[in-house]
Amino acid sequence: MSTLLQEADRLYISTMGTVRSQLRTDVAFGLRQSQKTLPPKYFYDAYGSRLFEDICRQPEYYLTRTEAQILRTHAADIVRQTAGASLVELGSGSSVKTRLLFDEYQRQDHLLHYVPVDISASMLEETARGLLADYPSMSIEALVTDYLDGLTALPNTRPRLVLFLGSNLGNFSPTEQTELFQRLAASLHPGDQFLLGLDLRKSVEVLEAAYNDAAGVTADFNLNILRHINRELQADFQLAQFSHLAFYNRELHQVEMHLKSEVAQKVTIAALDLSVSFRAGETIHTEISRKFDAQEVKEQLAGYGFRFQSQWTDPDSRFLLGLFRYTG
Ligand code: AVI
Repeated sequence: MSTLLQEADRLYISTMGTVRSQLRTDVAFGLRQSQKTLPPKYFYDAYGSRLFEDICRQPEYYLTRTEAQILRTHAADIVRQTAGASLVELGSGSSVKTRLLFDEYQRQDHLLHYVPVDISASMLEETARGLLADYPSMSIEALVTDYLDGLTALPNTRPRLVLFLGSNLGNFSPTEQTELFQRLAASLHPGDQFLLGLDLRKSVEVLEAAYNDAAGVTADFNLNILRHINRELQADFQLAQFSHLAFYNRELHQVEMHLKSEVAQKVTIAALDLSVSFRAGETIHTEISRKFDAQEVKEQLAGYGFRFQSQWTDPDSRFLLGLFRYTG
């Protein structure tokens, strides 16, 4: 791990150095499967991170708005129950919603120590600079890495509140979810807390609309994974030959995103010395976005030593924020 940047002792950005090498392995592995797959973390280069911000503003994508509304309504209560902790945010992105909590911590005169963890270095740096300008009492230790690796490098100074917002958990498979909870439990000390944002199960129409916005931003976001691979691994995916597909899988309670090859074609990935054939209509599965039953998640977390503390939801019960205390 190397520290890249230091600014007036209030900002440290460290990178864990695994991102580029994982891309090669993940792409080589995923495109050799009978159902081709690519991990969703590769949507998020600088352009993809901006597209995701744009998705969050689309009228059909209710998740961000609803979670922000819950945070806004209940910030005082959340801050009262978590005061004094360092805020570790997994998948922090532009930290827009987290500002709703920062404002309240500041209003209640608490010192702000923030540890954003994100895979996009450019997004982390830009966000951190904006936060330092807006919150004079804030110090930041940013980590450029994916969530699971980030958990092995958490600062030890104060009780920690780990934030995992936006229903980012939905992009994990059940196995990855179990691994996250295990690693979280192994990294935390008794007394540390966990604030988890969950998108709840609801009608198929609402869910499918959220991942098929009329402006086509989600489609562009999905295709961006191919742009990213073209650039980083000298591949020749023709984006116009692939189309966005998103639908709700009722059995697995998850929205699935795929990229469908419109024609039979061959793609070359020069950096991997790999040629990949596609049948017309064949898909690359790029993302799952699971929708939760809150009770199931609470029961699973209890098994790893997380005692349920409080929950907040919106009037239509679309989204839920759950607060847990790690008891060891
Ligand atoms: C980041 N994550 C929770 C988003 C989701 O809803 O699963 C990513 C996303 N994919 C398509 N639209 C948004």
